[in-house]
Amino acid sequence: MSNNHISLTQQEITNQILDLKKELGNDICILSHYYQQDHTFQFGDFSGDSLYLSQQASKTKAKYILFCGVHFMAESADILTSDEQQVILPNASAGCSMADMADIDDLKDAWQYMSSFVPEQNLVPIAYINSSAAVKAFCGEKQGTICTSANANKVVTWALKQGKKVLFLPDQHLGRNTGTFLGVPNEKMPLWKPTEPAPNLSKQEIEQAQIMLWDGYCSVHCRFSIGQIEAAKKMYPQAKIIVHPEVPQEIVQLADDAGSTSKIIDIIEKAPTNSVWFVGTEINLVHRLAKQMKQHNKLVFPLNPSVSVCSTMYRTKPIDLLLALQSIKANNPINVITVPQDIKASAYKALNTMLQL
Ligand code: 13P
Ligand code: SF4
Repeated sequence: MSNNHISLTQQEITNQILDLKKELGNDICILSHYYQQDHTFQFGDFSGDSLYLSQQASKTKAKYILFCGVHFMAESADILTSDEQQVILPNASAGCSMADMADIDDLKDAWQYMSSFVPEQNLVPIAYINSSAAVKAFCGEKQGTICTSANANKVVTWALKQGKKVLFLPDQHLGRNTGTFLGVPNEKMPLWKPTEPAPNLSKQEIEQAQIMLWDGYCSVHCRFSIGQIEAAKKMYPQAKIIVHPEVPQEIVQLADDAGSTSKIIDIIEKAPTNSVWFVGTEINLVHRLAKQMKQHNKLVFPLNPSVSVCSTMYRTKPIDLLLALQSIKANNPINVITVPQDIKASAYKALNTMLQL
């Protein structure tokens, strides 16, 4: 960052972003995930959850897509857009620790082991969108697909209806909560531990499984507890608890509802006035929702009273967006995310299967 930028005030940064947005017009499209901090979120041409943003990325004709989200989201956008379009991650260090838990070589090893007991045509990999492009490509090659938290039920149903066993990765909690919702008992959802020195599931466990869960998780969504639900209900006995499906099963089962970020927003927006909500997901979304709902006489609180921020989403500051916009204006875009051609086609196949479902 140059010294010129260090001396800019927040207001000056905001004004320069707005001026550049106007100047670059239809050449750019800014996508903001709900977990962004408000200072950055406000500049989005579209804002939403992972599913909505990937749909917008597949539709936009803009030459440059600035993705205020994390690395896997920008990769997905690059897979879904044409070769003439460029996807920029304003802060190149914004990753997702859960996506990093599914390493492509570990996935290939797991697949090889599992398919030594179950014919490959009876196995289907489903990767949560929070995964690398290489993992998505593997799913495409193996006739699998991708899901988001908004469509996991539909996608897993699609696989189970074909009578196949699912390998669900990387989020064990989304996989388990989805399986439970669809009536799959826990005994038929064994946990595959990719970091064990030797395979941790036996032939029998694999043969009996309906969904094999990868041992990954989101550190933000694992910060919610049964104690927090009890404390919330004590404070407001009439309160409703709603959590994201990346939250562990025992907490989802005690909550009144669970859903993707867009479902959480939708349910609370449609709730009666004077209702009280405790929300188990990322704090920037909860604070924004609380502010909006206050005007409608609804009380919204974070379920976790200590901060549950996604620290990597939080890395994208307005100054990063400004620097990215300036680089586009100078015809020398920075932080361009490019998925290698050899994995793009298979990853596209996997993502497109999801978008068609
Ligand atoms: P959504 O799919 O609900 O947008 O969630 C994305 C995410 O990263 C949740 O941790
Ligand atoms: Fe990844 Fe969790 Fe952040 Fe979502 S909230 S981007 S899963 S680390």
